Amino acid sequence: MANHAAIIPSPKAQLEVITRPIPTPAPHQILIRNRALATNPVDWKIQELDLMIKSYPTILGTDVAGTVEEVGASVTRFQKGDRVAAFAMFLSQMDEAGFQEYVLANEGCSTKIPQSMSFEEGSLLPMAVATSGVAIFANLGVPTSGGQKGGFLVWSGASSVGSGAVQIAAAMGFDVFTVASPRHHAYVKTLGAKFVFDYSNPDVVSEIVTAAKEAGIELKLAYDAISENGTSATCVQVLHQFGGGKLCLTLSTPEEAEPPENVEVSRTLANRIGMDWKEGGTWLFNDWLEKALLDGSYKPSPGIQIVEGGLASVQKALDLHRKGVSGKKLVLPLE
Ligand SMILES: NC(=O)c1ccc[n+]([C@@H]2O[C@H](COP(=O)([O-])OP(=O)(O)OC[C@H]3O[C@@H](n4cnc5c(N)ncnc54)[C@H](OP(=O)(O)O)[C@@H]3O)[C@@H](O)[C@H]2O)c1
Repeated sequence: MANHAAIIPSPKAQLEVITRPIPTPAPHQILIRNRALATNPVDWKIQELDLMIKSYPTILGTDVAGTVEEVGASVTRFQKGDRVAAFAMFLSQMDEAGFQEYVLANEGCSTKIPQSMSFEEGSLLPMAVATSGVAIFANLGVPTSGGQKGGFLVWSGASSVGSGAVQIAAAMGFDVFTVASPRHHAYVKTLGAKFVFDYSNPDVVSEIVTAAKEAGIELKLAYDAISENGTSATCVQVLHQFGGGKLCLTLSTPEEAEPPENVEVSRTLANRIGMDWKEGGTWLFNDWLEKALLDGSYKPSPGIQIVEGGLASVQKALDLHRKGVSGKKLVLPLE
């Protein structure tokens, strides 16, 4: 049996499909035969700008879903044949990167998916849950026990990571406020958002603040799932109206470098689930997410746009993602 992978042979080069060995799991790892892959903005950004990669060839890709083929000696939660979704630690080693047929994933960054869930749906989960989970629990300090009171602002409820944040924040008990294009308003309400606003409206800040005050809800926590083109400054304006609070970003912005008075600004990093926030990540993926998928309280989100052609089409998916998506994630089914 062989493994096939979509590699970047050299900085900024187009992807090529090559044959490479099927890796063997370390004690805490599982070997997954991927059945669906999803792309993220970081994939095309790394390719286009040659970011973060220390040596080439390299393999990108974080979001995978498939079946467990083999488990490492210390693995207790998974067995051969389990249907799983996993966050591939693509910056570690090529064997741990997603865009290939067989990938090694950390046990603590993997979750079983229900029989009724397709692999394509499963591939929507890992980056969204990791990025937003780190933001909400590690950066913003929300207790994992649930039962929270008050409001929580998610900037961009229809994006991949924002739609995950809407669901996690709602599950923790918050009244979720979010923004999206009007065509996605009904959808983000199905994810648990209570109040939805159009981010293109110039009065969006006063609309959010007025709605929260009329409902008697304080907005002291915000998560900017976009962090571009002034979105973070807009979130800061909302928090200011409630005397300040905490804002977590997905990208570096001027607000991160120069935190405004009364607003504590930090930035999430999805990889932390397999690094310095391992214990939290294991709880999130092995316990919380698995239960939430089974009881239906967390749904794979946002929508799916299928890109046919398997590994040979990963480049096409990255090119499409670079042009922009709306309320959809690009998913590549594998045979
Ligand atoms: N720090 C980390 O570890 C980490 C991890 C993952 C992602 N990221 C970053 O987080 C960002 C989002 O990633 P993603 O995968 O969630 O993106 P995505 O799903 O590809 O984003 C597309 C969505 O962005 C929304 N959008 C665009 N401009 C907006 C604005 N001004 N206000 C509100 N929504 C806006 C659109 O909403 P509508 O359809 O409603 O118009 C669209 O649905 C990217 O920059 C990515 O690189 C960081």
